[in-house]
Amino acid sequence: MKRISLTQYLVEEQRSHDSIPAELRLLIEVVARACKTISHAVGKGALGEVLGSAHSENVQGEVQKKLDILSNEILLEANEWGGHLAAMASEEMETIHQIPHRYPKGEYMLLFDPLDGSSNIDVNVSIGTIFSVLKAPDGMATPTEADFLQPGSKQVAAGYAVYGPQTVLVLTTGNGVNCFTLDREMGSWVLTQQQMQIPTETAEYAINASNARHWYPPVQRYISELEAGKTGPRGKDFNMRWIASMVADVHRILNRGGVFMYPADARDPSKPGRLRLMYEANPIAFIVEQAGGAATTGTERIMDLQPTQLHQRVPVFLGSKNEVELVTRYHQQA
Ligand code: F6P
Ligand code: MN
Repeated sequence: MKRISLTQYLVEEQRSHDSIPAELRLLIEVVARACKTISHAVGKGALGEVLGSAHSENVQGEVQKKLDILSNEILLEANEWGGHLAAMASEEMETIHQIPHRYPKGEYMLLFDPLDGSSNIDVNVSIGTIFSVLKAPDGMATPTEADFLQPGSKQVAAGYAVYGPQTVLVLTTGNGVNCFTLDREMGSWVLTQQQMQIPTETAEYAINASNARHWYPPVQRYISELEAGKTGPRGKDFNMRWIASMVADVHRILNRGGVFMYPADARDPSKPGRLRLMYEANPIAFIVEQAGGAATTGTERIMDLQPTQLHQRVPVFLGSKNEVELVTRYHQQA
C-alpha cells in the first residue's frame, strides 16, 4: 500500500484545489505535531506522572486535570513561534492568548479544547483534542476577544485527534473529511480514510440518559420514541452508546453513523447544554457537515450562530442527517 503522509496530502490538496495556503498548511502541521506530543504524554499514563488532578479550576469552574494543563501548554508553545497565528483561545484559559512580541504574527486565529473528555483521562478511556481555525479580521495584528466571535461558517479548518487504541487525526479544510493514523514507530501521520461520509440512516444514539428527568419535552419525545423500539412509532430497535468523550463518540458516528446529543435542560438557564460553542460545537459541526451529516442546537444550524461569548455553551444535536432533522423538527413543532 502506498502511504500518503499528512505533509504530502496537504501539499497535493494545495496543488489541486488551491485551498490550503502555505501558512494554513504550516498551522495544521504544527497542531498535528502538538497532538503527537500530547498522544505521547497520554500514552505514558502513570509512568509519566501525568494522571490526576492539578488542584486548580478553569474559567467554567471545572477542576483541571494535570493533562488538561499540560496539553494546553503543549499547544500554546508549539503554535507561538511559527509566524502563522495572530492569537489563540483555549477552553482552559479565561481570555485569549496573544503571540509574544518576539515572534512574527500571521493571519489565523486558533481555538482549541486541549483535552476533551477529561473524566476519562485517569481511567484509560479514549480522549482527544479539538481545534478550530478562523481568520483574523484584515490588518488586525493584535485581535481582541470580540474578533474571535465569528460564526462557525467562517472556519477555514477544523479537526480533532483521538488518543485511543489508535491515535487518529480527523481534518477538514472545507473540502471533505480525511482521517490520518499516527504511525507510532515512524512518528508520522498516514492518510487512512479519505472523504469520510456519515451514513444518513442509523439505529444508534448517544446521550447522557442520567439527565432524562431534566430534559425538555421535544427531547423527552424523541428519546422515548427511540426507546420504544420495534413496536413504537419508529418501528425499529435503537442501540445506545455514551463514551463521555465527545471526540470518541463523534469518531464512532463518523465511521458508522449515529446521533449525538447534549441538549439544554431545565436545570440552569445560564448553562444551555454542556458543550462549548467555540471549542467543541463549531469545529465538530464543520466536520460533521463536511461528512454529509447535520448539526443543530435543536432549533438552528450550529454554524449559523453568532457567538456572544468566548466560552458560551450551546445545546448540540449532531450526526446522521435523518435523525438530526427529526429531533430538530420536534423542537420546531414544540
Ligand atoms: O467536554 C465536555 C465533555 O467531556 C464531552 O467530551 C463529553 O461528551 C461530555 O462532556 C460528557 O458529559 P457527561 O459528564 O455529562 O457525561
Ligand atoms: Mn471538551
